[in-house]
Amino acid sequence: METENKTQAAMAMEMPDGDLSEQIKLVSKDSHVRAENTELMMSYQRGDVTLEQYKLLLCSLHHIYEALEEELERNSSHVGVAPIYFPLELARRELVEADLEHFYGPYWREKMVVPKATERYSHRLRQIGRDNPELLLAHAYTRYLGDLSGGQILGRITQKSLGLKNGEGTAFFTFPAVSSPNLFKQLYRSRMNSVELTEKQRMCMLEEAVRAFELNIQVFDELQDMVYRTQRLINTLQIPGALITTTTPL
Ligand code: HEM
Repeated sequence: METENKTQAAMAMEMPDGDLSEQIKLVSKDSHVRAENTELMMSYQRGDVTLEQYKLLLCSLHHIYEALEEELERNSSHVGVAPIYFPLELARRELVEADLEHFYGPYWREKMVVPKATERYSHRLRQIGRDNPELLLAHAYTRYLGDLSGGQILGRITQKSLGLKNGEGTAFFTFPAVSSPNLFKQLYRSRMNSVELTEKQRMCMLEEAVRAFELNIQVFDELQDMVYRTQRLINTLQIPGALITTTTPL
């Protein structure tokens, strides 16, 4: 995997058009396909996402954006972060919190459940925020441009699949301060391209983008495992004479 990613990064480095936005898109193309093909994203594409899947996804998104946005803010004047720092237009954290409150009530913080992969993702964000802030760009690109692209489709599917009216519980997918996602993505790409990087930093950036996708894939896979485990437990509890009993709400 490591070798494969390095080859992709090396290929991207040799592109005649050396724009970072083009290179990063090329280098993460296969990972994007793999992310789309995770069980969780396939549920979305089939239009049968469940409330349990969505609530668990929101918990993880909160964890991830809390780390990403705190690190972006702390490094907002860094030369590699300032050009792509758009808190007004892009910040997701408060919107996810509104959705969590909608589903879990005022004490949502105490009810959050995240898999280990989510912890690893936020740990990586904290680590680069501390040691290599310019690499935050790779993560901001992966999440925010994803939310402005396929994320818009996912928002509509969530509303339809779960029968949520008037945007209830789906604030996460909205960008009130972005009137045209496509124009904003163009602006974002031009800001990415304005960041000056040494060859080595650029190579690290491309590898970090692949890593960002990989971390997302692991989160989705582990979330889906949690869903399966809960379903199995429910099924076991429904069998007459089942040995397992619990008083913990599922
Ligand atoms: C772009 C669909 C999942 C990250 C896009 C685009 C579409 C799309 C249609 C626009 C492509 C273009 O303008 O050329 C989907 C669908 C998904 C999905 C249907 C799942 C069902 C994801 C995930 C991530 C992601 C899970 C990352 C965590 C991105 C990024 C871009 C993008 C970063 C911008 C690419 C660029 O213009 O450089 N996606 N996507 N997507 N997606 Fe996804």
